[in-house]
Amino acid sequence: MTSPTTKLNSGYEMPLVGFGLWKVNNDTCADQVYSAIKAGYRLLDGACDYGNEKEVGQGIARAIKDGLVKREELFVVSKLWNTFHDSDKVEPIARKQLQDLGLDYFDLFLIHFPVALKYVDPAERYPPGWTGPDGKLEFSKATIQETWQAMESLVDKKLARSIGISNFSAQLIMDLLRHARIRPATLQIEHHPYLQQQELVKYAQNEGIVITAYSSFGPLSFIELNMSSAENTPALFDHDVVKSAATKHGKTPAQILLRWATQRNIAVIPKSNNPDRLSQNLDVTGWSLDQSELDAFNGLDLNLRFNNPVNYGLYIPMFA
Ligand SMILES: NC(=O)c1ccc[n+]([C@@H]2O[C@H](COP(=O)([O-])OP(=O)(O)OC[C@H]3O[C@@H](n4cnc5c(N)ncnc54)[C@H](OP(=O)(O)O)[C@@H]3O)[C@@H](O)[C@H]2O)c1
Repeated sequence: MTSPTTKLNSGYEMPLVGFGLWKVNNDTCADQVYSAIKAGYRLLDGACDYGNEKEVGQGIARAIKDGLVKREELFVVSKLWNTFHDSDKVEPIARKQLQDLGLDYFDLFLIHFPVALKYVDPAERYPPGWTGPDGKLEFSKATIQETWQAMESLVDKKLARSIGISNFSAQLIMDLLRHARIRPATLQIEHHPYLQQQELVKYAQNEGIVITAYSSFGPLSFIELNMSSAENTPALFDHDVVKSAATKHGKTPAQILLRWATQRNIAVIPKSNNPDRLSQNLDVTGWSLDQSELDAFNGLDLNLRFNNPVNYGLYIPMFA
């Protein structure tokens, strides 16, 4: 089974369902990427910050070598980390990431966060993370405009087919669109019934920017990080609205949560280490939730965000 695609404003088709690579361990990553491709995944959602791009590249190379897939059938996404926002740092790090992946272009390259941190030489620390060992945050003066122009030049140089953004607010997007020569193709955001961000989704979609949802299962992904707000929030899989739709459609709660997004043309990138769940998560298109079920989902919004630097003890109130 493979995923249907959605057309981006760059003219390229992007699969609506992909495989997320955050917290995929280095020792199993190549095998997991290979299994995901074998299961039918064509979009891989990675990042410098996930620290596993070499292993992702090994998995891709093996899948291509074994004839499971051709490079042009894959849609490889990666992200620019915060310490590489200065205009002269964007292309060198993109080239390093491509080299790690064993590829010569990204299908989509995103600005991971609208936060510019002081440059860290990859020879010194890689991936650099938010802070060094002293835990101190150091910022750079790079503006989003400067960084975006460097992202645009990646498209000019054919290092990225499409470029986009992640964790941006509507205010920042409005500013970006005033100067963008190449419009962002996608906006990747935390999105689940407890954090629906309806106005942001509507605004971006009206501007022709495709939304990709991350952490579609809400608190689940953050429990393994011991985040107390996640531990204290009722699991979405146990919510009556989700459970009753699952029973009615003969699907799992996870599939209901993913379908709730894809039915509104929001792409999803669930991560799973488990082969059954891997194929289950791909079966989230081609069947539909009823309007009454979609309406019931509207009532679950708590404006509850988990992936916020503030929750990791970093005072960057970017969502304030
Ligand atoms: N742009 C950003 O700032 C940002 C931030 C966070 C994430 N992301 C991207 O989004 C991707 C997905 O988000 P995420 O990793 O936070 O979490 P997620 O995919 O929402 O959730 C992963 C968790 O759900 C479990 N799971 C997966 N499928 C399941 C199923 N069918 N039934 C029951 N449990 C299931 C997984 O456990 P098992 O592995 O045991 O199945 C894991 O504990 C990331 O991998 C990354 O690519 C981007």
